[in-house]
Amino acid sequence: MAEINENFLKLKSSYLFSTIAKKVNEYVESNPNCNIIKLGIGDVTKPLVPAVVEAMKKACDEMGTSEGFHGYGPEQGYSFLREKIVEFDYKKRGIEIDASEIFVSDGAKSDCGNIVDIFSEKNKVAICDPVYPVYVDTNVMSGRSGAGLEDGRFENFLYLPCTKENNFSPLPPKEKVDLVYLCYPNNPTGEVASREILEKWIKYALEMGAIILYDGAYEAFVQDEKIPRSIYEIDGAKKCAIEFRSYSKTAGFTGTRCGYTVVPKDIVIDGTTLNSLWNRRQTTKFNGVSYIVQKGAEAVYSEEGQKEILANIKDYQENAKIIKDSLEKLGYECFGGIHSPYVWLKTPKNMSSWEFFDYLLTKVQIVGTPGSGFGIMGEGYFRLTAFNTKEKTIEAMARMASLKI
Ligand code: MLT
Repeated sequence: MAEINENFLKLKSSYLFSTIAKKVNEYVESNPNCNIIKLGIGDVTKPLVPAVVEAMKKACDEMGTSEGFHGYGPEQGYSFLREKIVEFDYKKRGIEIDASEIFVSDGAKSDCGNIVDIFSEKNKVAICDPVYPVYVDTNVMSGRSGAGLEDGRFENFLYLPCTKENNFSPLPPKEKVDLVYLCYPNNPTGEVASREILEKWIKYALEMGAIILYDGAYEAFVQDEKIPRSIYEIDGAKKCAIEFRSYSKTAGFTGTRCGYTVVPKDIVIDGTTLNSLWNRRQTTKFNGVSYIVQKGAEAVYSEEGQKEILANIKDYQENAKIIKDSLEKLGYECFGGIHSPYVWLKTPKNMSSWEFFDYLLTKVQIVGTPGSGFGIMGEGYFRLTAFNTKEKTIEAMARMASLKI
Protein backbone atom coordinates (compact mmCIF):
# COMPACT_ATOMS: atom_id res chain seq x y z
CA MET A 1 0.00 0.00 0.00
CA ALA A 2 1.22 3.46 -0.81
CA GLU A 3 2.22 5.52 2.19
CA ILE A 4 1.86 9.26 2.45
CA ASN A 5 4.54 11.71 3.46
CA GLU A 6 3.54 11.90 7.10
CA ASN A 7 5.41 15.15 7.57
CA PHE A 8 2.43 16.86 5.93
CA LEU A 9 0.27 15.74 8.85
CA LYS A 10 2.35 17.84 11.21
CA LEU A 11 1.15 20.99 9.47
CA LYS A 12 -2.02 22.96 10.12
CA SER A 13 -4.55 21.67 7.60
CA SER A 14 -4.67 24.96 5.70
CA TYR A 15 -2.08 27.51 4.55
CA LEU A 16 -2.45 30.91 6.29
CA PHE A 17 -3.71 32.84 3.27
CA SER A 18 -6.11 30.03 2.30
CA THR A 19 -7.61 30.14 5.81
CA ILE A 20 -8.11 33.89 5.51
CA ALA A 21 -9.64 33.62 2.03
CA LYS A 22 -12.06 30.97 3.34
CA LYS A 23 -13.11 33.13 6.29
CA VAL A 24 -13.65 36.14 4.02
CA ASN A 25 -15.66 34.09 1.49
CA GLU A 26 -17.90 32.78 4.27
CA TYR A 27 -18.49 36.32 5.52
CA VAL A 28 -19.31 37.56 2.00
CA GLU A 29 -21.72 34.66 1.46
CA SER A 30 -23.70 35.58 4.54
CA ASN A 31 -23.41 39.34 3.90
CA PRO A 32 -23.80 39.60 0.12
CA ASN A 33 -24.09 43.40 0.12
CA CYS A 34 -20.96 44.06 2.13
CA ASN A 35 -18.19 46.19 0.66
CA ILE A 36 -14.94 44.53 1.60
CA ILE A 37 -11.58 46.30 1.41
CA LYS A 38 -8.72 43.84 1.11
CA LEU A 39 -5.50 44.82 2.83
CA GLY A 40 -4.62 41.20 3.59
CA ILE A 41 -2.49 39.11 1.25
CA GLY A 42 0.27 41.08 -0.45
CA ASP A 43 -1.30 40.96 -3.88
CA VAL A 44 -0.87 43.97 -6.16
CA THR A 45 -3.82 45.82 -7.69
CA LYS A 46 -2.20 47.94 -10.39
CA PRO A 47 -2.23 46.49 -13.90
CA LEU A 48 0.97 45.43 -15.64
CA VAL A 49 2.77 48.50 -16.99
CA PRO A 50 2.49 49.29 -20.72
CA ALA A 51 6.14 48.45 -21.49
CA VAL A 52 5.62 44.93 -20.10
CA VAL A 53 2.27 44.43 -21.85
CA GLU A 54 3.71 45.55 -25.20
CA ALA A 55 6.70 43.22 -24.86
CA MET A 56 4.44 40.30 -24.00
CA LYS A 57 2.10 41.02 -26.92
CA LYS A 58 5.05 41.18 -29.28
CA ALA A 59 6.38 37.90 -27.90
CA CYS A 60 2.96 36.36 -28.32
CA ASP A 61 2.90 37.41 -31.99
CA GLU A 62 6.38 35.95 -32.47
CA MET A 63 5.17 32.67 -31.01
CA GLY A 64 2.55 32.53 -33.74
CA THR A 65 5.16 32.48 -36.51
CA SER A 66 7.45 29.64 -37.58
CA GLU A 67 10.55 31.85 -37.27
CA GLY A 68 9.64 33.28 -33.88
CA PHE A 69 8.18 30.18 -32.26
CA HIS A 70 9.86 28.96 -29.04
CA GLY A 71 9.41 25.47 -27.65
CA TYR A 72 11.13 24.37 -24.46
CA GLY A 73 13.42 27.15 -23.34
CA PRO A 74 16.49 26.85 -21.14
CA GLU A 75 15.40 25.69 -17.68
CA GLN A 76 17.64 28.37 -16.16
CA GLY A 77 16.00 31.20 -18.11
CA TYR A 78 16.77 32.88 -21.43
CA SER A 79 20.09 34.68 -21.52
CA PHE A 80 18.40 37.92 -22.67
CA LEU A 81 16.77 38.11 -19.20
CA ARG A 82 19.65 36.73 -17.16
CA GLU A 83 22.02 39.28 -18.70
CA LYS A 84 19.63 42.14 -17.86
CA ILE A 85 19.38 40.93 -14.27
CA VAL A 86 23.17 40.82 -13.99
CA GLU A 87 23.51 44.31 -15.40
CA PHE A 88 20.61 46.15 -13.73
CA ASP A 89 20.05 44.39 -10.42
CA TYR A 90 23.69 43.73 -9.61
CA LYS A 91 26.41 45.37 -11.76
CA LYS A 92 24.81 48.81 -11.48
CA ARG A 93 25.02 48.40 -7.72
CA GLY A 94 28.66 47.34 -7.81
CA ILE A 95 27.97 43.62 -7.39
CA GLU A 96 29.60 41.01 -9.64
CA ILE A 97 27.22 38.15 -10.38
CA ASP A 98 27.61 35.92 -13.42
CA ALA A 99 24.60 35.10 -15.60
CA SER A 100 25.25 31.41 -14.94
CA GLU A 101 24.51 32.08 -11.25
CA ILE A 102 20.98 33.35 -12.07
CA PHE A 103 18.05 30.92 -12.31
CA VAL A 104 14.82 32.43 -13.64
CA SER A 105 11.71 30.86 -12.14
CA ASP A 106 7.98 31.24 -11.67
CA GLY A 107 8.50 33.24 -8.48
CA ALA A 108 10.23 33.54 -5.15
CA LYS A 109 7.59 31.51 -3.30
CA SER A 110 8.33 28.39 -5.35
CA ASP A 111 12.08 28.85 -5.11
CA CYS A 112 12.06 29.52 -1.34
CA GLY A 113 10.06 26.33 -0.99
CA ASN A 114 11.96 24.19 -3.51
CA ILE A 115 15.45 25.13 -2.35
CA VAL A 116 15.11 22.65 0.53
CA ASP A 117 15.54 19.84 -2.05
CA ILE A 118 19.28 20.45 -2.27
CA PHE A 119 19.94 20.31 1.48
CA SER A 120 20.21 17.37 3.82
CA GLU A 121 17.26 16.52 6.04
CA LYS A 122 19.71 16.61 8.93
CA ASN A 123 20.34 20.35 8.61
CA LYS A 124 19.35 22.47 11.59
CA VAL A 125 17.19 25.38 10.44
CA ALA A 126 16.90 28.83 12.01
CA ILE A 127 13.70 30.73 11.29
CA CYS A 128 12.58 34.18 12.35
CA ASP A 129 9.36 34.50 14.32
CA PRO A 130 7.13 36.04 12.95
CA VAL A 131 7.99 34.80 9.46
CA TYR A 132 6.65 34.16 5.95
CA PRO A 133 5.05 30.72 6.54
CA VAL A 134 6.52 29.13 3.39
CA TYR A 135 9.95 28.74 5.02
CA VAL A 136 8.49 26.85 7.97
CA ASP A 137 5.97 24.72 6.11
CA THR A 138 8.35 23.55 3.38
CA ASN A 139 10.93 22.48 5.94
CA VAL A 140 8.26 20.58 7.84
CA MET A 141 7.09 18.90 4.62
CA SER A 142 10.61 17.81 3.80
CA GLY A 143 11.23 16.29 7.22
CA ARG A 144 13.56 18.82 8.76
CA SER A 145 11.33 19.50 11.79
CA GLY A 146 10.31 17.36 14.70
CA ALA A 147 6.76 17.15 15.98
CA GLY A 148 4.37 20.08 15.94
CA LEU A 149 4.05 21.68 19.38
CA GLU A 150 0.93 22.96 21.18
CA ASP A 151 1.87 26.58 20.50
CA GLY A 152 2.15 26.06 16.74
CA ARG A 153 5.93 25.82 16.66
CA PHE A 154 7.91 22.73 15.67
CA GLU A 155 10.61 20.76 17.42
CA ASN A 156 14.15 20.98 15.99
CA PHE A 157 13.83 24.47 14.47
CA LEU A 158 15.66 27.32 16.10
CA TYR A 159 13.26 30.25 16.29
CA LEU A 160 14.71 33.76 16.25
CA PRO A 161 12.26 36.12 17.96
CA CYS A 162 11.71 39.38 16.05
CA THR A 163 10.47 41.89 18.57
CA LYS A 164 10.20 45.62 18.81
CA GLU A 165 13.12 45.47 21.28
CA ASN A 166 15.45 44.14 18.55
CA ASN A 167 13.81 46.26 15.81
CA PHE A 168 12.49 43.01 14.34
CA SER A 169 16.06 42.15 13.21
CA PRO A 170 17.47 39.32 15.33
CA LEU A 171 21.19 38.85 15.76
CA PRO A 172 22.86 35.52 14.97
CA PRO A 173 22.40 32.96 17.74
CA LYS A 174 25.18 31.55 19.92
CA GLU A 175 24.48 28.00 18.78
CA LYS A 176 25.34 26.48 15.43
CA VAL A 177 22.68 26.12 12.76
CA ASP A 178 23.07 25.07 9.12
CA LEU A 179 20.37 27.00 7.26
CA VAL A 180 19.10 30.48 8.10
CA TYR A 181 16.14 32.20 6.45
CA LEU A 182 16.30 35.99 6.36
CA CYS A 183 13.87 38.29 4.55
CA TYR A 184 14.51 42.04 4.18
CA PRO A 185 12.60 44.27 3.79
CA ASN A 186 10.81 41.92 6.08
CA ASN A 187 7.58 40.11 5.53
CA PRO A 188 5.53 40.46 7.71
CA THR A 189 6.93 43.29 9.89
CA GLY A 190 7.92 45.65 7.06
CA GLU A 191 11.16 46.47 8.89
CA VAL A 192 14.66 46.42 7.38
CA ALA A 193 18.03 45.14 8.58
CA SER A 194 20.98 47.50 8.77
CA ARG A 195 24.23 46.74 6.97
CA GLU A 196 25.85 46.07 10.37
CA ILE A 197 23.28 43.38 11.23
CA LEU A 198 23.69 41.71 7.84
CA GLU A 199 27.48 41.79 8.25
CA LYS A 200 27.06 39.95 11.55
CA TRP A 201 24.95 37.30 9.81
CA ILE A 202 27.49 36.78 7.03
CA LYS A 203 30.31 36.53 9.55
CA TYR A 204 28.27 33.97 11.49
CA ALA A 205 27.49 31.93 8.36
CA LEU A 206 31.13 31.87 7.25
CA GLU A 207 32.30 30.81 10.70
CA MET A 208 29.64 28.13 11.16
CA GLY A 209 29.56 26.86 7.60
CA ALA A 210 25.88 27.88 7.46
CA ILE A 211 23.93 28.94 4.37
CA ILE A 212 21.77 32.07 4.42
CA LEU A 213 18.60 31.87 2.37
CA TYR A 214 17.91 35.52 1.71
CA ASP A 215 14.48 36.54 0.48
CA GLY A 216 14.76 39.93 -1.20
CA ALA A 217 11.29 39.99 -2.75
CA TYR A 218 10.58 43.49 -1.43
CA GLU A 219 13.94 45.18 -2.17
CA ALA A 220 12.36 47.60 -4.66
CA PHE A 221 10.63 49.34 -1.74
CA VAL A 222 13.85 50.39 -0.01
CA GLN A 223 14.02 54.18 0.01
CA ASP A 224 17.39 54.73 1.67
CA GLU A 225 20.66 54.05 -0.16
CA LYS A 226 22.32 53.05 3.13
CA ILE A 227 20.02 50.04 3.50
CA PRO A 228 21.29 47.02 1.55
CA ARG A 229 18.99 45.88 -1.25
CA SER A 230 20.92 42.70 -1.87
CA ILE A 231 22.76 40.39 0.53
CA TYR A 232 25.66 40.47 -1.95
CA GLU A 233 26.34 44.06 -0.93
CA ILE A 234 27.92 42.45 2.12
CA ASP A 235 31.49 41.11 1.77
CA GLY A 236 31.67 37.36 1.90
CA ALA A 237 27.99 36.81 1.06
CA LYS A 238 28.81 35.16 -2.25
CA LYS A 239 30.41 32.33 -0.27
CA CYS A 240 27.40 31.61 1.92
CA ALA A 241 24.14 33.19 0.69
CA ILE A 242 21.46 32.33 -1.84
CA GLU A 243 19.20 35.24 -2.82
CA PHE A 244 15.58 35.06 -3.99
CA ARG A 245 14.11 37.89 -6.04
CA SER A 246 10.69 38.40 -7.55
CA TYR A 247 8.93 40.55 -10.15
CA SER A 248 5.66 40.12 -8.21
CA LYS A 249 5.78 43.17 -6.00
CA THR A 250 8.39 45.01 -8.09
CA ALA A 251 6.51 44.89 -11.38
CA GLY A 252 3.05 43.53 -10.60
CA PHE A 253 3.77 39.92 -11.68
CA THR A 254 1.80 38.22 -8.87
CA GLY A 255 -0.48 36.65 -11.49
CA THR A 256 2.03 36.57 -14.34
CA ARG A 257 4.63 34.66 -12.29
CA CYS A 258 8.32 35.37 -12.69
CA GLY A 259 11.25 35.72 -10.34
CA TYR A 260 14.78 34.43 -9.99
CA THR A 261 17.24 32.93 -7.59
CA VAL A 262 20.95 33.64 -7.38
CA VAL A 263 23.13 30.69 -6.44
CA PRO A 264 26.76 31.86 -6.48
CA LYS A 265 29.35 29.37 -7.69
CA ASP A 266 31.56 30.25 -4.73
CA ILE A 267 29.32 28.32 -2.35
CA VAL A 268 30.95 24.93 -2.09
CA ILE A 269 30.04 22.21 0.40
CA ASP A 270 32.29 19.15 0.59
CA GLY A 271 33.59 19.82 -2.92
CA THR A 272 30.13 20.29 -4.48
CA THR A 273 28.83 23.66 -5.62
CA LEU A 274 25.26 24.50 -4.66
CA ASN A 275 24.97 26.06 -8.12
CA SER A 276 25.45 22.65 -9.74
CA LEU A 277 22.94 21.01 -7.38
CA TRP A 278 20.30 23.68 -7.99
CA ASN A 279 20.93 23.40 -11.73
CA ARG A 280 20.46 19.62 -11.47
CA ARG A 281 17.26 20.10 -9.48
CA GLN A 282 15.82 22.70 -11.86
CA THR A 283 16.68 20.83 -15.06
CA THR A 284 14.96 17.75 -13.65
CA LYS A 285 11.86 19.24 -12.08
CA PHE A 286 11.29 22.52 -13.93
CA ASN A 287 10.91 23.39 -17.60
CA GLY A 288 11.50 27.10 -17.36
CA VAL A 289 9.27 30.16 -17.50
CA SER A 290 7.44 30.85 -20.75
CA TYR A 291 9.18 32.94 -23.41
CA ILE A 292 6.29 35.43 -23.33
CA VAL A 293 6.58 36.03 -19.59
CA GLN A 294 10.38 36.32 -19.73
CA LYS A 295 10.05 38.89 -22.51
CA GLY A 296 7.68 40.80 -20.22
CA ALA A 297 10.21 40.59 -17.39
CA GLU A 298 12.99 41.79 -19.71
CA ALA A 299 10.90 44.90 -20.50
CA VAL A 300 10.93 45.79 -16.79
CA TYR A 301 14.55 46.87 -17.37
CA SER A 302 13.83 49.08 -20.40
CA GLU A 303 13.87 52.84 -19.89
CA GLU A 304 10.08 53.03 -20.15
CA GLY A 305 9.62 49.92 -18.03
CA GLN A 306 11.78 51.32 -15.23
CA LYS A 307 9.93 54.64 -15.26
CA GLU A 308 6.56 52.90 -15.19
CA ILE A 309 7.27 50.38 -12.47
CA LEU A 310 8.94 52.98 -10.26
CA ALA A 311 5.83 55.16 -10.52
CA ASN A 312 3.70 52.22 -9.35
CA ILE A 313 6.04 51.45 -6.46
CA LYS A 314 5.93 55.11 -5.44
CA ASP A 315 2.13 54.96 -5.33
CA TYR A 316 2.23 51.87 -3.14
CA GLN A 317 4.79 53.58 -0.89
CA GLU A 318 2.37 56.50 -0.56
CA ASN A 319 -0.40 54.11 0.41
CA ALA A 320 1.85 52.64 3.09
CA LYS A 321 2.48 56.15 4.40
CA ILE A 322 -1.25 56.89 4.43
CA ILE A 323 -1.88 53.73 6.46
CA LYS A 324 0.96 54.32 8.89
CA ASP A 325 0.27 58.06 9.41
CA SER A 326 -3.49 57.56 9.79
CA LEU A 327 -3.15 54.71 12.26
CA GLU A 328 -0.52 56.50 14.31
CA LYS A 329 -2.83 59.51 14.51
CA LEU A 330 -5.50 57.15 15.83
CA GLY A 331 -3.10 55.97 18.52
CA TYR A 332 -1.98 52.64 17.02
CA GLU A 333 1.61 51.58 17.46
CA CYS A 334 2.96 50.90 13.96
CA PHE A 335 6.14 49.49 12.45
CA GLY A 336 7.43 49.04 8.90
CA GLY A 337 5.62 50.76 6.06
CA ILE A 338 8.56 52.94 4.96
CA HIS A 339 10.85 50.62 3.01
CA SER A 340 8.10 48.09 2.60
CA PRO A 341 4.50 47.73 1.47
CA TYR A 342 3.59 46.23 4.87
CA VAL A 343 2.52 48.06 8.01
CA TRP A 344 2.80 45.97 11.17
CA LEU A 345 0.64 47.25 14.01
CA LYS A 346 -0.04 46.38 17.60
CA THR A 347 -3.65 45.33 18.08
CA PRO A 348 -5.65 47.66 20.31
CA LYS A 349 -6.93 46.75 23.78
CA ASN A 350 -4.77 43.63 23.92
CA MET A 351 -7.00 41.89 21.41
CA SER A 352 -5.53 38.72 19.96
CA SER A 353 -4.55 38.90 16.30
CA TRP A 354 -7.52 36.75 15.21
CA GLU A 355 -9.94 38.72 17.45
CA PHE A 356 -8.83 41.89 15.71
CA PHE A 357 -9.15 40.19 12.31
CA ASP A 358 -12.78 39.26 13.08
CA TYR A 359 -13.45 42.66 14.59
CA LEU A 360 -12.25 44.54 11.50
CA LEU A 361 -14.01 42.18 9.12
CA THR A 362 -17.36 42.35 10.85
CA LYS A 363 -17.35 46.00 11.97
CA VAL A 364 -15.77 47.78 8.98
CA GLN A 365 -15.28 45.04 6.37
CA ILE A 366 -11.51 45.43 6.23
CA VAL A 367 -9.40 42.33 5.67
CA GLY A 368 -5.89 42.24 7.12
CA THR A 369 -3.56 39.45 8.16
CA PRO A 370 -3.39 38.30 11.80
CA GLY A 371 0.16 38.54 13.10
CA SER A 372 -0.12 35.21 14.90
CA GLY A 373 -0.51 33.53 11.50
CA PHE A 374 3.20 34.29 10.99
CA GLY A 375 4.34 32.78 14.30
CA ILE A 376 3.70 32.99 18.00
CA MET A 377 5.75 36.17 18.34
CA GLY A 378 3.27 37.79 15.95
CA GLU A 379 0.44 37.34 18.46
CA GLY A 380 -1.08 40.71 19.32
CA TYR A 381 0.05 42.17 15.99
CA PHE A 382 -1.68 42.66 12.67
CA ARG A 383 -0.42 43.27 9.11
CA LEU A 384 -1.96 45.64 6.54
CA THR A 385 -0.72 45.94 2.97
CA ALA A 386 -0.33 49.02 0.81
CA PHE A 387 -1.18 47.13 -2.37
CA ASN A 388 -4.78 48.27 -2.71
CA THR A 389 -5.72 51.43 -4.62
CA LYS A 390 -5.20 54.86 -3.08
CA GLU A 391 -8.97 55.42 -2.92
CA LYS A 392 -9.61 52.15 -1.10
CA THR A 393 -6.66 52.76 1.22
CA ILE A 394 -8.04 56.18 2.19
CA GLU A 395 -11.53 54.70 2.57
CA ALA A 396 -10.12 51.91 4.77
CA MET A 397 -8.43 54.45 7.03
CA ALA A 398 -11.68 56.45 7.31
CA ARG A 399 -13.43 53.24 8.36
CA MET A 400 -10.70 52.56 10.94
CA ALA A 401 -11.21 56.10 12.30
CA SER A 402 -14.93 55.42 12.72
CA LEU A 403 -14.23 52.56 15.13
CA LYS A 404 -14.79 53.39 18.76
CA ILE A 405 -11.81 51.62 20.32
C1 MLT B 1 2.10 37.84 1.60
O1 MLT B 1 1.01 38.41 1.66
O2 MLT B 1 2.76 37.57 2.59
C2 MLT B 1 2.63 37.51 0.25
O3 MLT B 1 1.80 37.98 -0.74
C3 MLT B 1 2.73 36.10 0.07
C4 MLT B 1 3.50 35.73 -1.14
O4 MLT B 1 4.16 36.55 -1.76
O5 MLT B 1 3.41 34.56 -1.43
